[in-house]
Amino acid sequence: MNLPSLEKAKVFGKTVFLRADLDVPLSAISHPSTPLRTSQPSAISEIEDDTRLKAALPTIEYLLKNGAKVIIAGHLGRPKGIDKSLSLEPIARWFSIKYKVLSIKYGKRKGFDGWELTDNLFLLENLRFYKGEEANDQDFAAKLISLANIYVNDAFAVCHRAHASIAGMPKFLPHFAGIHLREEVRVLSSVLENPKRPLVVIIGGAKIETKLPLVEKMRGVADYVLVGGKIAKEILPFLKEKSQTLFVADLNPDGFDITPKSTDDFLKIVNTAETIVWNGPVGYVEIKEGLEGSRKLAEGIVKSNAYTVVGGGDTLGFLKKLGLLDKFSFVSTGGGAMLEFLSGKSLPGIIAIIS
Ligand code: 3PG
Repeated sequence: MNLPSLEKAKVFGKTVFLRADLDVPLSAISHPSTPLRTSQPSAISEIEDDTRLKAALPTIEYLLKNGAKVIIAGHLGRPKGIDKSLSLEPIARWFSIKYKVLSIKYGKRKGFDGWELTDNLFLLENLRFYKGEEANDQDFAAKLISLANIYVNDAFAVCHRAHASIAGMPKFLPHFAGIHLREEVRVLSSVLENPKRPLVVIIGGAKIETKLPLVEKMRGVADYVLVGGKIAKEILPFLKEKSQTLFVADLNPDGFDITPKSTDDFLKIVNTAETIVWNGPVGYVEIKEGLEGSRKLAEGIVKSNAYTVVGGGDTLGFLKKLGLLDKFSFVSTGGGAMLEFLSGKSLPGIIAIIS
C-alpha cells in the first residue's frame, strides 16, 4: 500500500494540521491540596498510558525540524457535545512537559479553542465536542481546513472512522501519512502478506461481533489462531467451518480465565512461532482470578524469539501494568482499527489519503 510520505511534503513555513491519536486512558485523581472551588474535592485526570501520545512525537518533531507550524488535533472518548471531563487539557499538560513549556496559555484559532504550547505548536480542544466531526460534515471540515495548508494523518487508531478530521479534510488539502501511520500499515500489511512463519495469532477479549471477522480472516492467513477470553466460550457456533489452524481455549469453571492446560498448550505453540500477533487478553485481567493465563502468555511471548506485535486498549493496559509492553517488537496504537485492518477491511482514513 502506497501511502503519501511526509518527506514529499513541502512543509517549510507552512501550517500543518496533524490528526493524531490523543484518545488515551485517563484516571481521575483527587488532589485535596488543590484549592477547592466547590464543596467537592477537585479532581484532575492523569494519563494512565501515553503510548499513543509518544507515537505522535516522531512526526511532530519532523515537522518542527523542517520549519512547519503544527496544529495537533484529535479526540478523547465519546462525548455528546462539550464535556469538560473529556477536555484535552491533560494532553496539553503532557505535551507541555515534553516540550518544557513553563506555562500553557489557553488560546483560540479561527474560533477553535485550544492551547498555545509553543510559538509553533498549538493543540486543539477535543474535536468530538463539535457535532460536525463524527457526522463528517462538510462545513465543519471546511472550518478545520481553514486552519492549515497541509494535512497529515498520524492517527491509525481512528482510521476506521469516516469522520471529518479523518476522511473529510484530505479531500481538500495536500495530504500525507505521518511516520507512525506508515509504520502501522507497513507492519500490519507484512503480517497479512509475507509474515515470517510460523505466524501465531492470539485473539481474546469479550466482543464476539468485533473479533469474529478477525478470527475468520486469520484462519486463512496464520499457521495457528489461538482464541481465549470470553469469546472462547461463544465462538464455536459462529464459525463457518472447522480448521486445523484454530485452537479455542477451555475456560475455568468461573469463566474468568483460560485453564492452566490451555495456557500450557498455547505456550507450546507460541514457542514455535517466528511471528506473533496478539489482540485481546485471554482472561478477565482486571481481577486476580482472570490474570494468570494472560500473564503467563505475555511472559512466554516476550521470551520467544519471534517478531511480536500487540494491540488493543485492554491488552496494552495490562501489559503496561506488568512492565512488559516495551518488550514487544511493535505496539499498534489501534484497537478497533487494528482489528479491521487485519480483518482485511478498507479503512476510510487510509482510503482518504491514498486517493
Ligand atoms: C480507539 O480508541 O479505538 C479510537 O480512539 C477510536 O475511538 P472510537 O471507538 O470512540 O471511535
